[in-house]
Amino acid sequence: MTAIHTDAEKELKRGSFGYTDMQLYKFMFAYVKPYLKELSIILFLMISFSISTALGPVIIQTTIDRFSSEESLLFGNDFIDSIFLSLSQSLQNSFNVSLIWSEVIILGISYLLLQCLIFYLSYKRIIMVTEVGMKAELTIRLELFSHLQELDMSYHDKNEVGRIMSRLTGDVNAIREMIGGQVVNNFANFLTVITILYFILRYDPVLTLVPLSLIPIVIFIGLLSKKFARPRRKETRRTNSIMMANIGEAIAGIKVTKGANREPENVKIFRDLNNQNFNASVRADSMNAIFFPLMLAMQTLGVALIFYVGGLRVISGAITIGTLTAFLFYNSILFRPVVLLGQFYQQLQDALTGAERALALFDTKTKIPIKPESPQLPLIKGEVIFDHIYFEYEKNQPIYDKFSLYVPAGKTIALVGKTGAGKSTIINLLSRMYDFQDGELLIDNHNIKDMNLNSFRSQIAVVPQDFFLFSNSIKLNLKLGNPRATEEEMWNALDMVGLKSFVKNMSEGLDTKLQERGGRLSVGQRQLLVFAAVLLADPRILILDEATSSIDVFSELKIQKSIQLLLKNRTSFIIAHRLSTIRNADTIIVIDDGQIIEQGTHDELISQKGDYYDLVKNQIELSSINR
Ligand SMILES: Nc1ncnc2c1ncn2[C@@H]1O[C@H](COP(=O)(O)OP(=O)(O)OP(=O)(O)O)[C@@H](O)[C@H]1O
Ligand SMILES: [Mg+2]
Repeated sequence: MTAIHTDAEKELKRGSFGYTDMQLYKFMFAYVKPYLKELSIILFLMISFSISTALGPVIIQTTIDRFSSEESLLFGNDFIDSIFLSLSQSLQNSFNVSLIWSEVIILGISYLLLQCLIFYLSYKRIIMVTEVGMKAELTIRLELFSHLQELDMSYHDKNEVGRIMSRLTGDVNAIREMIGGQVVNNFANFLTVITILYFILRYDPVLTLVPLSLIPIVIFIGLLSKKFARPRRKETRRTNSIMMANIGEAIAGIKVTKGANREPENVKIFRDLNNQNFNASVRADSMNAIFFPLMLAMQTLGVALIFYVGGLRVISGAITIGTLTAFLFYNSILFRPVVLLGQFYQQLQDALTGAERALALFDTKTKIPIKPESPQLPLIKGEVIFDHIYFEYEKNQPIYDKFSLYVPAGKTIALVGKTGAGKSTIINLLSRMYDFQDGELLIDNHNIKDMNLNSFRSQIAVVPQDFFLFSNSIKLNLKLGNPRATEEEMWNALDMVGLKSFVKNMSEGLDTKLQERGGRLSVGQRQLLVFAAVLLADPRILILDEATSSIDVFSELKIQKSIQLLLKNRTSFIIAHRLSTIRNADTIIVIDDGQIIEQGTHDELISQKGDYYDLVKNQIELSSINR
């Protein structure tokens, strides 16, 4: 099993990309900018919510104080008083109850209505906030995905699939939290706390000191618990990503596992990882077991203190019983937002971390730009000149230095050489998967770096060593060659590579999905299907990295025939392993350690009795042993 790289282990610290917080806020703001209208509605909903919430205890206080008062209730506002009086009088007359009862009933109904309003306001707000956040998330994720598709091979070489996936899920999620979740909701909490403080301060500044002195303690406990919980959470994430990587690798390598009878060992490894993740989760969640009861205790302490201080104030006549009750209610409402406010800082940091990593990815530019504004490459004949090319994958480790090669249009070049000699690298450069650092690559005398890349790519076809078929229909895979190909052309191409009757017999013909039942192809058939796609593409330059896997003699013959068909009428570069393909090439180039060591036709090179001669001799001996 190869080493497991985990995302968490390689996670970079916040700030390591060198962005200022302002840049990050700007970056995130760009995604909510289209929703300014919604945001202003959300703000309005928040303010209404805070005020409504703070009004609830006012009704309670009024109701309670009404019992100890002889006179009818007056609010001091002419308009409200007149409505209230006429309502309560009509209630009194129609049901024949006392004035105080009708007034209390109206207050009760108002309280009920107010609670419905509060419910509606927070429901509406959560829906809208979530929607804005999700829309923003949708956009960010799509943009990140498109960006990842465009990034060059040199980026993808260095970043494992798992890491990229976490960018697209974890980081984006963190940003959504910022613009559509906790952070926005916390702003509502903040407003609520402020509004309630304003209300209670007006009731009684002295009694306000009780909750006011508890707030910092609660926030402090919140911060402290986050501080302790954070490394534990991080450990959970780390063990989780190791576990996920292990699952991924175990499933991807299931064939090897079965072949090597490694199932029990894999289960044992997984059991350990699974247990580690379990232990980490338990440790992380145990923090909640301390935190929440502690918070509850603080809340109860608040109740006790309000009773004590408030009771004294009631006795001295400074406040009413109603006010004392209102304070008890405020105490319980106040606690949740304050606790959540304590977590605000950490949430903000998480969101900024996500934003930072996403922004860094956006700022990773492709080294091989498409250059849509550059001149289009006209229809080429296919003359290729490598002129003093210098290339390295890793800094200061040159694979090629001053590599030069002239290939006339329409010729077939076979590249041969030991493994690791640099054959695939040449075609990587020609197909512009990687950019060379120095020298020139000329196609029909056009410097390829100055041309529109799409106009070049549309005239070449590359069949890599480890070619890949999408788990979609045969039709879609053929269209990779030529998006405009008709069904008739597809059947023609399939016929030429000898796959026609095979595909005809499949359950859904061209629409048969690969990977699904009936769509399983053998290694040889897969290769022939790729060849059919190349025929449809009809490229001016063909690049073929011949797969080394040996296949049955019958398919082998079909493939050999198809390859000859593919090579006709175009410039072709083949990294060949089959002697038949090599022998038919116009020029054979023997590469070793980034150098052309021999060059010529088969007969010329055989008569030289050099490396090529040895290579062929070995291959003939090998194939006779295999037989
Ligand atoms: N993506 C990469 N990043 C860094 N080094 C690479 C990369 N691809 C290849 N190399 C290195 O470049 C050298 C040439 O590799 P290349 O793939 O061109 O060999 P090759 O001749 O195609 O071999 P094979 O016959 O095994 O396919 C090797 O030393 C290899 O380790
Ligand atoms: Mg190779």
